[in-house]
Order: sequence, then C-alpha cells, then structure tokens
Amino acid sequence: MLSKQTLSKHTIVVASGKGGVGKSTVASALAQQLAKKGKVVGLIDADIHCSSIATIFGIYDSDTSNKEYQLYCRHGVHILPFGVQENQLVAWRGLLSTKVIKAAISSITWPELDYLIFDMPPGTGDMHLSILSSYKIDSVFVVTTMSKMSVSNALKTYHLYHRCGIQDFVIVQNSLEDTDVVVLDVCTKLLSNISSSETILIRRDTQISTACDFGQCLAEITPDLTSSILK
Ligand SMILES: Nc1ncnc2c1ncn2[C@@H]1O[C@H](COP(=O)(O)OP(=O)(O)O)[C@@H](O)[C@H]1O
Ligand SMILES: [Mg+2]
Repeated sequence: MLSKQTLSKHTIVVASGKGGVGKSTVASALAQQLAKKGKVVGLIDADIHCSSIATIFGIYDSDTSNKEYQLYCRHGVHILPFGVQENQLVAWRGLLSTKVIKAAISSITWPELDYLIFDMPPGTGDMHLSILSSYKIDSVFVVTTMSKMSVSNALKTYHLYHRCGIQDFVIVQNSLEDTDVVVLDVCTKLLSNISSSETILIRRDTQISTACDFGQCLAEITPDLTSSILK
C-alpha cells in the first residue's frame, strides 16, 4: 500500500453527512481563529461542485490566465479555493474531481503549515475516500444541526472516518433550526454514539451568515473552535 502524504503538522477534515449544516462556515471560522492565534493555517475547498470558501473569504478573480491553481491569503489563512470566478458551473464525475484536487494540492508551493483544514462536500463518497487514502488526517470536525436527518447522516460520516483509523473527533452542533425538545433528546442520544473529545455549540446568528456572504472575519463572532486541537 502507498504511504499517505503528510501535508501539515496537523490535518483536519470538516465534514457532515448533510449539506447546508455549516461545514464551510465552521471550517472557515476554525481556520481564522487558528491564524489569529499565530498558527500557519491552510484551508482547502474540497467541495468543488458547490464551493463556498471563495465567497466566505471574499475571493473573486477574473484573471486566471497565469496559473491554473493559486493560493490566496485572506484573514491570515492560506486558501486553495475553487469557484473564484462567479457563476462558473462545475459538473464533473467523482474521479475527475478527486484528480483535480490532488493535482491542485501538489502544484502549489505551500508554506510550512501548522494546520491544514479540508472543507468537505456532504456525504461519504469519492472525495472523502480519496482524501482519506491519500493524506494523513489527524482530526475530524463533525458538523450537524439538531435534526434527526442531519444527525443520522453525521453519524455515517463519523463511522467512515472512525473505520479508517481516525481517533480524534469534535462535534459541532450548529443551531440553524428551532428544535423541539423531543427531537433534541433523540439527536442528543444519537450523538452519544460518537466518541468525541469535545462538543461545541454554535447559536444561529445573522451576524454569522452576513459575515459569510460578505467575506468578513468570523473568528470573533463564533465560539472558540480551537481548544481541543491546541491542547
Ligand atoms: N450559526 C449560524 N448562524 C447563522 N447562519 C449560519 C450559521 N452557520 C451557518 N450559517 C449559514 O448557513 C448557510 C449554510 O452554511 P454552510 O457553511 O455553507 O453549510 P455547508 O458547508 O454544510 O453546506 C450559509 O449561508 C451560512 O452563512
Ligand atoms: Mg460547504
């Protein structure tokens, strides 16, 4: 078996089973908080089909004539974004997406990174399997809202990464919807199946969605996401 490549001192995957639960928001906030604490941080948008990192960091670039893939620096974070040209449709098969991301990662001259964060697509498909088999992953942030649909799919994500030998998990409960107490109880019980070092709660806050849409810093308007990985 080929050995896995180590891309940074600590590599983190931010994932969940479901879309729209706050993965990109959490990945970006975590990257910005670590950078504010003086760490050298990289962030890769691995959700190539529905990329969000360019928007969250306010990266728009109409000139891609010189380089195919480019590293941008915003809010102190070294970013490999996709979709930097607005309204550019990406409709690729899984194999092509995973090839592109690996080519992009290896074509870039990265600084020596303390932390590298992958913002993942939903599900447990090709991109997850490819990144798991190619790179050494140290921690997984499992993001979920408190709905049964979201939590049950978050559990699938956990099982995939756990089966692949990852031991360090952080649960992020993002309160994007109002949850009935009975549902909350069901979700809490389901989440207890995840062996995690920490559970972090993020409240719904329009400051967060506005900051995401306008490329503003998230570091201080989100709760501390760094404590378990800085230990
Ligand atoms: N805690 C929050 N409060 C308010 N809006 C949020 C919060 N977390 C995420 N959002 C918003 O919800 C939407 C989906 O979040 P996103 O991070 O893109 O989810 P995913 O990456 O899982 O698809 C975005 O518009 C984002 O700004
Ligand atoms: Mg996303």
